[in-house]
Amino acid sequence: MRQLVVYYSRTGTTRKIAEAVAEVLKCDVEEIRDLKNRTGLLGWLSSGMDATLKRLTRIEKPVNPPELFDVTVIGTPVWNSTMSTPVRTYIVEYRDRFKQVAFFCTQYGSRSSVLKEMEDLCGRKPVATLMLRKRQVETGEYIDAVRQFCAQITR
Ligand SMILES: Cc1cc2nc3c(=O)[nH]c(=O)nc-3n(C[C@H](O)[C@H](O)[C@H](O)COP(=O)(O)O)c2cc1C
Repeated sequence: MRQLVVYYSRTGTTRKIAEAVAEVLKCDVEEIRDLKNRTGLLGWLSSGMDATLKRLTRIEKPVNPPELFDVTVIGTPVWNSTMSTPVRTYIVEYRDRFKQVAFFCTQYGSRSSVLKEMEDLCGRKPVATLMLRKRQVETGEYIDAVRQFCAQITR
């Protein structure tokens, strides 16, 4: 079974989890590259606004066509209680090409409906989900959760 991990990360937290998942699954990992500059205070403000308004952005064409993989594992940071704009864009542009899906997100808090929103946007039930707090990622308390998530994907 082939898996692909696809993620967006503005400040590196979600990237850490994406790389850990790809390492456990021994699979390809691809970063979604947004053409909009999201650095600094202005980038933060416009990202929040884009997310709240559920806008789309322009992303680079991905290297890996998702239809070549049995499971597309999608990771996003939470922005204003919803998925990040680059991940929303990726799902809207490629959802017709996914087979099975799994989702993960990172956020400050411990609650949000992001994973359910991703399910609705993809139109598919995920085989596994994982939600992690930024603090857990910083302190390294995510390895067991990542292993469990990967076990659900491969079972
Ligand atoms: C614009 C913006 C909005 C955010 N909104 C939320 C939020 O609603 N709830 C939350 O728990 N964290 C929120 N966060 C925090 C991020 O979800 C968290 O820091 C995440 O781990 C960042 O991932 P990254 O380093 O991969 O970009 C927000 C961050 C940004 C930049």
